[in-house]
Amino acid sequence: MSEASIVQVARDKENVAVGDEIVRHKLSSRLIHWGVALFFMIALLTGMPIWSPVFGWMADLFGGLSVCRWLHAWSGIAFAAMTLVMVGAWIKEMHFDESDKKFNVVEYMKFKGGEDPDVGKYNAGQKFFFWMAPVAMLVVLLSGIPLWWPTKFGWGLRQLCLVVHDIGFVFWFVAIVGHIYLGTAAEPGTFRSMTRGTVTRAWAKLHHPRWFREVTGDRK
Ligand code: HEM
Repeated sequence: MSEASIVQVARDKENVAVGDEIVRHKLSSRLIHWGVALFFMIALLTGMPIWSPVFGWMADLFGGLSVCRWLHAWSGIAFAAMTLVMVGAWIKEMHFDESDKKFNVVEYMKFKGGEDPDVGKYNAGQKFFFWMAPVAMLVVLLSGIPLWWPTKFGWGLRQLCLVVHDIGFVFWFVAIVGHIYLGTAAEPGTFRSMTRGTVTRAWAKLHHPRWFREVTGDRK
């Protein structure tokens, strides 16, 4: 199949093999994912100068601290909304199953390659990250509301929300650094699944062997 038609197939179909490639994420999934990532990054970068003067210089990137204040809140709302859309789009593929019980995070983090033969389209770590996203999103969203309208809430609640919001931020920061590392440098060949939409057969066989067999029918 020609180059153009692989990209065309990846627009609205996924889990199909096309020559040496397998479509992993159709266009709508990729757009949703990058929408989540975009609003997350804006909220992160506008939140850091509000959080600490150490990052004050970052405010200039957005036109000053007063811009950061409203942009942080609205990008946070957009991030929350996009996260819900993402959950709706991927929920069917993210149910934990028997094979997930065998997932050993310590072994996985050694990056020796060669997953358990039962690992499907997503491994247990990815499913966990997926389910963590809406929960951690709700934590920062709900704790952010009293900080957005300080006059409407009492001092005690605002202080509690400040601590929770900051812990949420640190947690998200670590989680996203890990996620970006896993999606790029740690596992070469993964990033293109979120740009082009496809992975190679070899990548699928190595990282998601059951998914590879389901999609290609190849039992070897
Ligand atoms: C900004 C840089 C980001 C990069 C480079 C990145 C990269 C990727 C890649 C390559 C995948 C596909 C993994 C696969 O098919 O096996 C993926 C999946 C995913 N991404 Fe991102 N992502 C980024 C930001 C985010 C953010 C901010 C979120 C927020 C929740 C997020 C949530 C997810 C989820 C839930 C999945 C599916 C589960 C998983 O594969 O871990 N991503 N990402």
